[in-house]
Amino acid sequence: MNKKIFSGVQPTGNLHLGNYLGAIKNFVELNNDKNNKCIFCVVDLHAITTKQDPLELKKNIRETVATFLASGIDPKKSIIFNQSMVSAHSEAAWILSCVSKIGWLNRMTQFKEKAGKDKEKASIGLYSYPVLMAADILLYDSSHVPVGDDQKQHLELCRDIAQKFNNDFNAPQFLKVPEPLIKKEFSRIMSLKDGLKKMSKSDPSDLSRINLTDDNDQIVNKIKKAKTDPMPMPESSKDLSKRPEAENLLGIYSSVTNNTLEKSIIEFQGKNFSEFKERLAEVLVEKILPISKEIKKLLNDSKYLDDIMLDGSNKAGIIATKKIKEIKLLVGF
Ligand code: TYM
Repeated sequence: MNKKIFSGVQPTGNLHLGNYLGAIKNFVELNNDKNNKCIFCVVDLHAITTKQDPLELKKNIRETVATFLASGIDPKKSIIFNQSMVSAHSEAAWILSCVSKIGWLNRMTQFKEKAGKDKEKASIGLYSYPVLMAADILLYDSSHVPVGDDQKQHLELCRDIAQKFNNDFNAPQFLKVPEPLIKKEFSRIMSLKDGLKKMSKSDPSDLSRINLTDDNDQIVNKIKKAKTDPMPMPESSKDLSKRPEAENLLGIYSSVTNNTLEKSIIEFQGKNFSEFKERLAEVLVEKILPISKEIKKLLNDSKYLDDIMLDGSNKAGIIATKKIKEIKLLVGF
């Protein structure tokens, strides 16, 4: 079956190993399959749901495109663009927000986490952000959406919004209800400092994550300092319950080496963490360093990156403009 793939990444700086293993690595595989039509979006409208410095944002938009390219997404095969250049995203988000229920958005755990205790001070954009995400996906009749595990709830909401719009406007199947593509394993990479907390760009400690722009010494140092427990490496996956740090590091190793968790456990059974960590740092350097070097090289040529976004926006714009026109007709405009 031909798949229409859509996914997005926020240009908020510090793209990390979680973004890579949870999402971008899968984008590359999907991009390489000739049967797929892929669209990868730098979601800059999502980024401004929290305060951004304009110059920093511009730099981060380019860095996100550079990361897509450096990881292996081919702009000749996939559309790469940034969201703000296709105005249909904002228009569709407004229309869809008028069919979405406050009760649905109140359930979103990510808003609760990001807004923290002072919910009253969060922006309205942060609250309605999943509706914009639904607009992104639905404008392109996307069939599959590859994301990390943390986006699951937002995708369920997107499906609800599509169905509600189709019902409200008596247009069965008009908005295509998408399928999430979330890997069963390693789709939630945890912090290197706390195995119960997601690896995140907003964690104040840089030691909690491997950034995709880290160099050799930073990667080795972060793995050396990663939290572990006093026990030796586990003998079986059963030993991993109540050992979140060991589970996370073994998960990272397995994902990077494309091995199953079971195979990785057998490889390091009963050994010391130090020996495992040395090997983990080695495979991470092997994987991340070429990406990091390529990102830095690409960032020297902002015109090249801007041209890719312009070309991608033109292509995405054609698809999205057609869909938003149909949406407006259905609504009665
Ligand atoms: P964002 O920018 O927070 O993250 C980008 C992608 O990285 C995944 N990810 C992780 N995966 C595993 N472990 C982690 N620790 C980890 N941290 C992040 C995310 O699941 C995501 O796939 N709302 C989205 C962006 C978005 C989008 C869309 C995605 C906007 N529109 C339409 C899909 C379709 C977000 O903020 O992702």
